[in-house]
Amino acid sequence: QTNITLQPYNIYKYRMTDISYTQYLNSAVNVAKSVGPLILENYNNRDKKVEYKGAVDLVTETDKNVEEIIIKTLTTEYPHTKILGEESTKDGVYNWGNEPTWIIDPIDGTTNFVHRFPLFCVSIGLSINKEIVVGCIYSPVLNEIFTATKGGGSYLNGNKLQVTSVETLQQAVVATNVGYDRSEYGVEFMMSNLKAIMMQNVQSIRFSGTAAWEMASVACGRLDCFYEWGIHPWDIAAASLMITEAGGVVVDPSGGPVQMEGRRVLCGNATICQVVSKLLGVRKP
Ligand code: IPD
Ligand code: CA
Repeated sequence: QTNITLQPYNIYKYRMTDISYTQYLNSAVNVAKSVGPLILENYNNRDKKVEYKGAVDLVTETDKNVEEIIIKTLTTEYPHTKILGEESTKDGVYNWGNEPTWIIDPIDGTTNFVHRFPLFCVSIGLSINKEIVVGCIYSPVLNEIFTATKGGGSYLNGNKLQVTSVETLQQAVVATNVGYDRSEYGVEFMMSNLKAIMMQNVQSIRFSGTAAWEMASVACGRLDCFYEWGIHPWDIAAASLMITEAGGVVVDPSGGPVQMEGRRVLCGNATICQVVSKLLGVRKP
């Protein structure tokens, strides 16, 4: 008698064809919208319960509650899926493999949320075989929902997205963020990159404090380029699919392929990324 063992890969392969990207996306959109009222209810509270994950890295009860709801909803609906969530990831170790994995940032832009600065969003991506195939970014204040499926395009409130075709910094608005690194080296590195870009007569620079929403803004052509060191997979997963599906590129600041776990990213159209990549420094480990 032969023992037939189903390899996990076969199981996932079966499920990949069984469940469409659109079906996964609809679930992500539904759960993102469902937590909107909870986020908005707490947004106006001036005395939020804030904890510190680092010297200037904040987390609130709302971040944790929202993540819990998203995880519970998606894993109940899809018991075979795994989770890589900002507030449930321990000790900076990314638990991420080939299995279908929801990559979740319950509130990207927590500092903005705490200060009642209206730019923040829920970000939910789905990876299969470590490739992002579904993305949803929801801003409850702006009432904007960005969606993307691999091969199916990316959309803002149902309208198809396209990155800009700007080729020079003089025509470009570039976004970045100061992140959470306040070491002397970290601050100097950030400033030297900024200086290199500003010295090329960049039209303007934005620091909006929410990497996911800024990348989604690159996808829809409000911004021409975004780069940052210090980001995590949950900041960029969903948004990276928005950009590639909008005809843009998501790369390592050196110009090579992006690593989701590499803590750095550069995105925009291919030409502007090439221009900016040449100006950005190489950060010491
Ligand atoms: C952060 C925001 C911020 C960026 C950080 C991110 P969080 O995410 O996107 O703009 O500078 O690198 O980690 O902590 O608000 O979820
Ligand atoms: Ca967050």
